[in-house]
Amino acid sequence: MAEHKTSKQVRDAASLRSARWFAPDDLRAFGHRSRAMQMGYAPEDWVGKPVIAILNTWSEAQPCHMHFKSRVDDVKRGILQAGGFPMELPALSLSESFLKPTTMLYRNLLAMDAEELLRGHPVDGVVLMGGCDKTTPALLLGAISMNLPAIYMPAGPMLRGNWKGKVLGSGSDAWKYWDERRAGKISDADWVDVEAGIARSYGTCMTMGTAATMMAMAETLGMSLPGASSIPAADANHIRMASESGRRIVDMVWEDLTPRKILTRDAFLNAITVAMAVGCSTNAIIHLIAMARRAGQDIGLDDFERASRKVPVIANIRPSGDKYLMEDFFYAGGLPGLLEQIRDHLHVDTLTVTGETLGENIKGAEIYNDDVIRTVQNPIYAEGALAVLKGNLAPDGCVIKPSACAPKFLKHTGPALVFDDYPSMKAAIDRDDLDVTEDTVLILRNAGPQGGPGMPEWGMLPIPKKLVQQGVRDMVRLSDSRMSGTSYGACILHVSPESYIGGPLALVRTGDMISLDVDRRTINMNVSDEELARRRAAWKKPEPRYERGYGWMFTRHIKQANEGCDFDFLETGFGAPVSEPSIY
Ligand code: FES
Repeated sequence: MAEHKTSKQVRDAASLRSARWFAPDDLRAFGHRSRAMQMGYAPEDWVGKPVIAILNTWSEAQPCHMHFKSRVDDVKRGILQAGGFPMELPALSLSESFLKPTTMLYRNLLAMDAEELLRGHPVDGVVLMGGCDKTTPALLLGAISMNLPAIYMPAGPMLRGNWKGKVLGSGSDAWKYWDERRAGKISDADWVDVEAGIARSYGTCMTMGTAATMMAMAETLGMSLPGASSIPAADANHIRMASESGRRIVDMVWEDLTPRKILTRDAFLNAITVAMAVGCSTNAIIHLIAMARRAGQDIGLDDFERASRKVPVIANIRPSGDKYLMEDFFYAGGLPGLLEQIRDHLHVDTLTVTGETLGENIKGAEIYNDDVIRTVQNPIYAEGALAVLKGNLAPDGCVIKPSACAPKFLKHTGPALVFDDYPSMKAAIDRDDLDVTEDTVLILRNAGPQGGPGMPEWGMLPIPKKLVQQGVRDMVRLSDSRMSGTSYGACILHVSPESYIGGPLALVRTGDMISLDVDRRTINMNVSDEELARRRAAWKKPEPRYERGYGWMFTRHIKQANEGCDFDFLETGFGAPVSEPSIY
């Protein structure tokens, strides 16, 4: 029987999970073998070899993963070279661009898809092909729960955008030029040219948005090859990284190197540290908490808060930085360079998919442009990218990204202007008679996990048109929704508990004074407890969002933002572990 050997091999072919399907001399195994042969395979293709699933999130609705249609062949090449048997399994593609009402409604559906695809098929290990925002945490959530050897292959960022010789950044420049257009500063023809120039190649958003953040998190956690997350999708290095991921997963099966061995509490603390240093998307908080809880690690908002006090933002990438994009980050040394720069803040003995530690992987990594990857002594923001605020508006916490907002709003008191839903906000925001000034705190509620539903990225509320025309480009905005990682501004997000289930945000009224103090990490409405009690007694629960289908299940089981927005029944502590499928 053919059997691959690695220096760290701990198992043999007879112990492979796939052998349950292919090896027995019985009628069911006859069916599995004969149907493999129906696809043109011979026993030489699979006997004694690990079957490697490739969860591919390619679809024709997923521009960020366009290259996965061919990149999967590079992954397969690596698997075959190392003596494995590849089995591509299509998974939900979760296109951030096209899927409505929001991909966050479906992150857990892809997580379930991934877990059950792995559980139900004859596979021994998996390559996870993702990148566009929710695909990374979703694939990892499923893989963590299934706990087969897994390696994450990131899609990589797209090339820089270009318009009339100006560099364009995903999302960030869409918001920026949209405001310029609303202010009458660019023409309709210019706007069409921006549309054509902002996304020029396959790959994910190339600002430090949620996609780039989560790919960097996967690598820091130890779930990707060193340097993988920074490689632009269109760079030939990306193809080589794909085939190397295929080669490596085969050895990981023989070594029985599973996610639970990699995803320790220290690995998550490293991810949080790096999130702060790269100027991460606010979405990282939700996804990292969810993944940690699946891995059985106790990670919460307090861990982010501690890291934010001591780790500065050193990646000069938009939207926290003012100039550079992911392509520049790669040329400057990429994530290994950044990790080496903050080595003193990391637990360098955490294990990774290479079988080596994080510290061994980054040893000798260099920085080639210290304006893109700064030193700790010369950061772009002295504290971490995110701050967690608490107070009578958000007893379970909320989040702001101080590195990407106007400093004058870090301590602010202003009157609330409250919108109960997005349509009423949209209808009012461009009115000339809107009673609003630069000091107003715009509030949107019923936009959380249940209220949105799915916690849409509405948190960067548009600046009222009359203020845009006066030159205002930032003001305090507060909601229980999320915002795109490519967004910026004084946006307070993820208010927990959310208003839809009766969190204090449901009790705010237009005209109430709202006080924000990022240095003291507080957010409060200046309303007496007695008055709040009166308002609570008068509050009525909103109508249910769904009465059937997936949405019905979602609203019954989704957890709040501070708990990671997982489904309660998917969390590791919920009930007994699921056993392997019977084969009769
Ligand atoms: Fe896919 Fe931004 S839309 S990463």
